[in-house]
Amino acid sequence: MNETPTIEKTEKVAEVIKNDSFANSAIQQNNPNSTSENPVKKWIKKIPFFPSMDYFRRKVYDSPLFDGSVRPLAKTLEEWPGALLIDITNRCNAKCVWCPNPDLTNVGAMDMDVYRKIIDDFGTRGGVLTFGTFGEPLMDKFMQERIEYLKRYRKIHKVEVLTNAFFLNDKIVPTLLEHGVGVDISLDELDKQTFEDVKKMSFDVVRDNIVNFLEANKKAARPVPVNIRIKTLKTVEETMEQELFKIISSHDCSVVLNSVDDNIISNWAGKLDKESFIKEYEISTNNKTRYTHKRFNQTNVAPCTQLWKWMVVYWDGSVVLCCADMFSRTVVGDLKSNSITEVWNGPQLKKYRKQMVSRRRFDVAICQDCDIHLSWHNLKEYYDTNGNFLPDKKFIMG
Ligand SMILES: C[S@@+](CC[C@H](N)C(=O)[O-])C[C@H]1O[C@@H](n2cnc3c(N)ncnc32)[C@H](O)[C@@H]1O
Ligand code: SF4
Repeated sequence: MNETPTIEKTEKVAEVIKNDSFANSAIQQNNPNSTSENPVKKWIKKIPFFPSMDYFRRKVYDSPLFDGSVRPLAKTLEEWPGALLIDITNRCNAKCVWCPNPDLTNVGAMDMDVYRKIIDDFGTRGGVLTFGTFGEPLMDKFMQERIEYLKRYRKIHKVEVLTNAFFLNDKIVPTLLEHGVGVDISLDELDKQTFEDVKKMSFDVVRDNIVNFLEANKKAARPVPVNIRIKTLKTVEETMEQELFKIISSHDCSVVLNSVDDNIISNWAGKLDKESFIKEYEISTNNKTRYTHKRFNQTNVAPCTQLWKWMVVYWDGSVVLCCADMFSRTVVGDLKSNSITEVWNGPQLKKYRKQMVSRRRFDVAICQDCDIHLSWHNLKEYYDTNGNFLPDKKFIMG
């Protein structure tokens, strides 16, 4: 994403990840109240006219005038999805207050035969793969088997898991380390009481899992990339004082830390009642007339990056439009009966891409109220001109 990441780099936190993809991009966007990676940038953002400058920067850059600079890459990516987000289960043990997942009724886990079919297909040309989009992937009882199955496809050259860490225990950690699976953790709160109020699961289990995992990773022959996402109802300063933050900071991982405000919380393409959430948790809101990335995203008519950036596979093998489609509102194909190429180049996605390119995003029902939308220029942050996922990008979703 072109937006400024909101990240704290602490002494030993080895790397700062520019966060912008859904769950990630959706979610971590420019937040002037959070810590920033660069003091100069932070200062610039405080200049009163910075928001308007940024607004005009995005407005101009996202106009058709600049389409030429991204169109060739988008064309290349239309041939084959460089990344697969595979939501092997949409069940989740947690009940985070900002997440509509608990409202899902069509829940399940991917059948192993369907999984193998998809991987056999993706493995022929390869790319990068994430487990977890809408649910909690480490709840899946076949997780170990699924990871091991990937071994036969060297062209699937980067794999990661997006998890709440409740099941990040010694049943799965050795497999993750052995197979080089990157771990992207949604930790959020670091204070026990707040954590349990907000996420409705045991803080002690998650804390111990994370600490043990970081230690095991430190000792591993080939440590895997680790990213820890923290969006907190507390302040950034309070969070950094927490014991767990200090432990995390002394390990080799990146941290994305934001204090929750209305620019951090996404509306899940209209599925989260953000207004009620903001009221109930007394979330700070930016002045209604002030530019924020989330507000801009809701009005931006530039083609949305998601239709080129990755293929999002639902637990039942169907393919949904994007990572905002938790409720499977816009199914664009089915990998049970069709190949990846057939779906990726199929009539549905072709139609939606055409609408996007002609700046008719709002004709696509699910896109009408979406604040996850990001312009397709974002593709250049993830792919080289040949459509290969950039090797220095440690995380697909982060
Ligand atoms: C839906 S979860 C699924 C993956 C996994 N269960 C996890 O917790 O990471 C994916 C990410 O979306 C984030 N998320 C959920 N609802 C959000 C919202 N309304 N705004 C911003 N981020 C949200 C979660 O915190 C998590 O980082
Ligand atoms: S704009 Fe449409 S395609 Fe893009 S993230 Fe939102 S709902 Fe998905």
